[in-house]
This record gives sequence, C-alpha cells and structure tokens, in this order.
Amino acid sequence: MRCKLVPICIIGGCMTFFGFLNIIRGLGTPLEKRTEERNRLVLYDSDVDVKESYVKSHKQHKLTPEKLQYYTPAPVPRRAHDGDDLSALLKDNVTIEVNGEFLQNFSATAHTVYARYTDFVLFTMVNKAYLTMTYNWLCNVEPFDGIIERLLVVSMDNETCTEISARSPAVTCMWLDLSTNAYDDALNWGKQSYVNFLTIRAQLMLSLAEANVSYVLFETDAIWFRDPIGYWRNATLIDDADIVVPIKGYPDQSLTLSFNPMIVLPTDTTRLFMRHFTQTLLADASLFDQDVMDPLCKRMYMGVRCRTFPWEDISDGLWFKLSESERKTFRPYVVNNNYYVGVDNKITRQALNGLWFLDLKGNCDGQRVRNTLAKHQR
Ligand SMILES: *[C@@H]1O[C@H](CO)[C@@H](O)[C@H](O)[C@H]1NC(C)=O
Ligand SMILES: *[C@@H]1O[C@H](CO)[C@@H](O)[C@H](O)[C@H]1NC(C)=O
Ligand SMILES: *[C@@H]1O[C@H](CO)[C@@H](O)[C@H](O)[C@H]1NC(C)=O
Ligand SMILES: *[C@@H]1O[C@H](CO)[C@@H](O)[C@H](O)[C@H]1NC(C)=O
Ligand SMILES: *[C@@H]1O[C@H](CO)[C@@H](O)[C@H](O)[C@H]1NC(C)=O
Repeated sequence: MRCKLVPICIIGGCMTFFGFLNIIRGLGTPLEKRTEERNRLVLYDSDVDVKESYVKSHKQHKLTPEKLQYYTPAPVPRRAHDGDDLSALLKDNVTIEVNGEFLQNFSATAHTVYARYTDFVLFTMVNKAYLTMTYNWLCNVEPFDGIIERLLVVSMDNETCTEISARSPAVTCMWLDLSTNAYDDALNWGKQSYVNFLTIRAQLMLSLAEANVSYVLFETDAIWFRDPIGYWRNATLIDDADIVVPIKGYPDQSLTLSFNPMIVLPTDTTRLFMRHFTQTLLADASLFDQDVMDPLCKRMYMGVRCRTFPWEDISDGLWFKLSESERKTFRPYVVNNNYYVGVDNKITRQALNGLWFLDLKGNCDGQRVRNTLAKHQR
C-alpha cells in the first residue's frame, strides 16, 4: 500500500510525488488554494468519486498514464456489518498487555464520563514531562463549557493525576501503574519509549471502542482557538464516518493522515479496525501508530470509513510557519504544536507566538487566554 504513492527522494529525505508537486506549485499560491489541493488529494472513499479527482489532478499536473496508475484507488472492501460474527472476524485475538483489571476500571470510568453528555469523551494520555504543557492546555480551554467534564486523562505515574486533580478537581484522571518510571521523562518522537507509549495508548483506544464509548483522542500540545465540541458533534452527525482524522500539513513520505485529534465512533467496523491496529502494534515494537493507521484507513480495512477534517479547521505545526497575514485567512479550531521535538522547544514556540497562558508562577492567566482567543477570531 505504501508504495502506491511514489516517493521522490532528494538530499535529506523523501516525499510523495504530490507533496513534491504541491511544494513546487505552492510557491506563490494563496494558502486557500494550496489547502484545497491538499484536501482533494486525500479523499479515500467510495462515496466520493476519487477517480475523477485523480483524473482532474492528471490534467492539472500533466501526469503520464504510468504515473496516474499509482493513484487509482483499490476496490472498496465489503463493510463489516452489525450482524457479522465478530469472533470469527477477530480470530487473530492476542493477549492485551495493559492489565485487564485496569481496562475494566477504565471502561467503567469512561462510561461515567460519557454519560454526562452522551456525545463523546475527550481522551488523552499525559506523563510527568507533559504536566506544564497540560496545565497550559487546561488554562486554554477554561472559557469553553463542558470540556473538563468530558475529559478522561490517563497518566503512567501516580503524581501526575494527583497534581492535575489539585489544580482542576473536576478532571477525571486515572493512574495506569506499569510498575516503572520509564515513561516519566519526555517521550520524544522516535524514541522507543515513545513507540511503546503509542502501543499502550492503542490498547486503551481499543478498550473504549469495545466499551461502546464515542471519543476524541487528543494531545495537550495544542492550542484550541475555538470551542470544537459543536464542530465535532456535527462531524459525527452529518456523516456515516467510523473515524475522523486530520490531514498533515507536510506529507511524511506516503503518510498523509494524522491522528490527533481523532474522533472514534464505536461501530463494529471501528472495533475490528482498532483490534487489528492494536495487535499490529503489539506484534512489532518498531511500529508507530501512524504507520499502521494511515494505510489501514486508506485501504478501508474491513470497510472502515476514515473521513478527514479540512486542514484549515484542524491545523498542525505548519501553521507556525505561516505569516500573520496567511494565518488570518482561516480560523482553525485546533492547532497542534507538532513537527517539533522536545517539550521545552514546544513551550518556547508557543510562548514566541503569544500562545503560552501561564504566568511566571505557572498559574493560569485567564485574561491572556480571552485576549488571545479574541484576537484569533478576527
Ligand atoms: C480474546 O482472547 C481472550 C483470552 O483468550 C478472550 O477472553 C476474549 O474473549 C477474546 N476476545 C474476542 C473478541 O474473541
Ligand atoms: C480498579 O478500581 C478499584 C476500585 O476503585 C481499585 O481498588 C483497583 O486498585 C483498581 N485497579 C486498577 C488496576 O487500577
Ligand atoms: C507515588 O509516588 C511517590 C513518589 O514517587 C511515592 O513516594 C509514593 O509511594 C507513590 N504512591 C503509590 C501509591 O505508589
Ligand atoms: C452502543 O451504543 C449505541 C448508541 O449509544 C447503541 O445504540 C448500541 O445499542 C450500543 N451497542 C452495544 C453493543 O452496547
Ligand atoms: C453544525 O451544523 C449546523 C447545521 O448544519 C450548523 O448550523 C452549525 O453552525 C454547525 N456548527 C458548527 C460548530 O459547525
């Protein structure tokens, strides 16, 4: 699947052919245009005439028929339905490594949180190194109603939950005791501890799907410029999606989908998808979650429908590279502070962009949040 998009390798890295074209054509092109191009290239759905959009790209980019064949979508597999025998489909069931008693507690707690609004739970995992970043995010979302009540935090050390609860008593935080402090330090992108963390998180994601809880997986190294709840609720109502994910501002070799924030609706198809996703990660300690999820989404594993958010609504680290005037052309709900390694670097980047809301003592400066959010409404 990954070879479907031809990577172009130049000094220092590879990118997809379209990524390359986008960069060449993108120079001097208005942002809306670039984003529109990008959106069109990530439609992977039976309901959308994918072929037609590729043919259109073909005309625009003067692709030869040899190149075009790489973009011809695979046949859409039959979708798993509610009446299907799930145990037969899940025959490659393997042991789940997160302690079963924890998973039971976790499902029960998730149900309690879910029952408050019955739309979705906001699920995130936080460790010691991310505590300050998480305080900043908690401060950021204070003006929005019902965020804290929907929040379900899992931490792998006992102090993080205690400290978060001391600051925001309404937060539901659970300590996943792994009898190790291996996850307390910064889990920087690419390190084995980070990859293992992703695999642990995948098991919790599967557990939520199996508990029939709709959720949004997210990370706290982000700025929420607008309250996304109504937007996410709409994304789950208007459509027959199983999963809704952002698209990357930068294509990463053949990977174009990103998984934070990610809406997960607990359909039977989603459960099969999550189980396969989790098992694949458990079986190979070198895999990142996106390496597994991106191709599964694109080839519609078990018929799963992965929809995408437009990049202008859920943006990523590319946003930080835009000029002030480019930023004013759209109003994202969420901007992820990613494509940047290291918590301290991320904090500095937010501070330099006026997006750090804690004062010198580490307390939430509500006025600064309100001013910043107001500024970005324009
Ligand atoms: C997976 O395996 C476990 C342990 O063998 C079993 O208890 C569980 O019911 C199985 N789950 C499914 C969906 O087959
Ligand atoms: C599960 O919850 C019970 C009751 O709150 C608690 O005593 C137990 O330690 C929890 N188990 C795990 C593994 O978190
Ligand atoms: C929590 O962590 C602290 C400090 O590392 C330790 O002293 C304490 O015993 C831990 N509590 C539990 C319940 O393990
Ligand atoms: C899952 O939840 C949906 C809606 O909340 C409900 O209609 C469905 O019956 C539930 N399914 C199971 C297996 O609990
Ligand atoms: C949700 O959808 C409704 C109906 O289409 C629309 O009026 C509303 O503005 C949408 N809300 C958001 C936040 O997108």
